Amino acid sequence: MYALTPDTPSFGRRATGDGRLLLLTNCGELVTNASGAPGDLSVIQDAAVAIEDGKIVWAGPEADLPAAYHHAEAIDAGGGAVLPGFVDAHTHLVFGGDRSDEFARRLRGESYEEILAAGGGIHSTVAATRAASFEELVDSGAARARRMLAGGTTTVEVKSGYGLQPMAEVKMLAAARAIADRVGITVITTFLGAHVPARGADRADYVDLVIEEMLPAAATYAQFCDVFCDRGAFTVDDARRILTAAAGRGLGARIHAEQLTHTGGAALAAELGAASADHLDHATAADAAALAAAGVVAVLLPAASFSMRSTQAPGRMLWDAGVTVALATDCNPGTSYVESMPLVISLACLEMGLAPEEAVWAATLGGARSLRLTDRGRVTPGSVADLVILDAPSYRHIPYRPGTDLVRAVVKGGEVVE
Ligand code: NIG
Ligand code: FE
Repeated sequence: MYALTPDTPSFGRRATGDGRLLLLTNCGELVTNASGAPGDLSVIQDAAVAIEDGKIVWAGPEADLPAAYHHAEAIDAGGGAVLPGFVDAHTHLVFGGDRSDEFARRLRGESYEEILAAGGGIHSTVAATRAASFEELVDSGAARARRMLAGGTTTVEVKSGYGLQPMAEVKMLAAARAIADRVGITVITTFLGAHVPARGADRADYVDLVIEEMLPAAATYAQFCDVFCDRGAFTVDDARRILTAAAGRGLGARIHAEQLTHTGGAALAAELGAASADHLDHATAADAAALAAAGVVAVLLPAASFSMRSTQAPGRMLWDAGVTVALATDCNPGTSYVESMPLVISLACLEMGLAPEEAVWAATLGGARSLRLTDRGRVTPGSVADLVILDAPSYRHIPYRPGTDLVRAVVKGGEVVE
């Protein structure tokens, strides 16, 4: 986030509790997503936003600002573009250690699946995560979450999946919740006990352990359940059993589907009415039709394919088939150590062929839809006041200028984040 210059003193930290009004003025371009139609940003030029008690109460052309708000305390957006906060709907934010050694090995030609099958990859992060204390997991995850918030991410989904034992999975989910409290970012938690079978475990036995021991322990800490349904991980039948058991405990379904190869995870997501099918690098036109018909959100992760130098998901095809698309970082130490939603938006445009307005919609309201959150992703009355103020005149500058930090300030729940 850019340092705020001394001539903009109004950018101090402020709360809007106790009925206090806060006004954001001089928004050169305001992305509202008001219509709700995918790809329609419902942009208002020269706009203002009124905020009360952390919620948006009015948004429109500044010339039409109702008299009741004229004397509210104001923040000047400096003519920059203002967007809803990014909703990063797929991350593995909590983990111990890192895998920079594996990154270098892959660049020299070893494959992700070979390293995993030999007991490295996810298994090395499992060892480091089990060895880390709760405080160490919170500290390292909070540092990443702080950078995410500074980069405009105001809501982040966080998965477990590096514990692979009941209490180690619970430790990860509890750490994710502690990070939310410490950083002030909204965290949605997902139980991913079925990431890979624990090292040395028989797959069928491990699925039983997930259903009979892990799920009961983890369910109260999570809103969703995810399964890595792929070659070298879990089958479609395993995933169906686990996600059906999770639904019985009130958890919505998400699936890592068609990432390394095509195994039928997307069709299962449609069959189960999952909230999301994620990755989809090898998804087909038939998968797209099934996802669209079932209303499953496709969470696309272009930074993972970029970091793996592998096939990008057919984002253009999925969008054109009528699938609701979300974009996310997949932040994890193996396939995508990426924290930046602006970079993801760039990659979705440059590598998948999404238009800037499609990618920005997918990174905001699309992410909220995939998490079944109806109170964010839009700048409309009643929505939470989570906003990104750019040091650029248009949202188009995000994909257009990859790697440049254009976030001037972030408003989270009506408070300016510093
Ligand atoms: O989303 N594919 C499975 N899970 C992660 C990678 C996890 C890891 O390699 O540590 C993913 O890409
Ligand atoms: Fe993932």
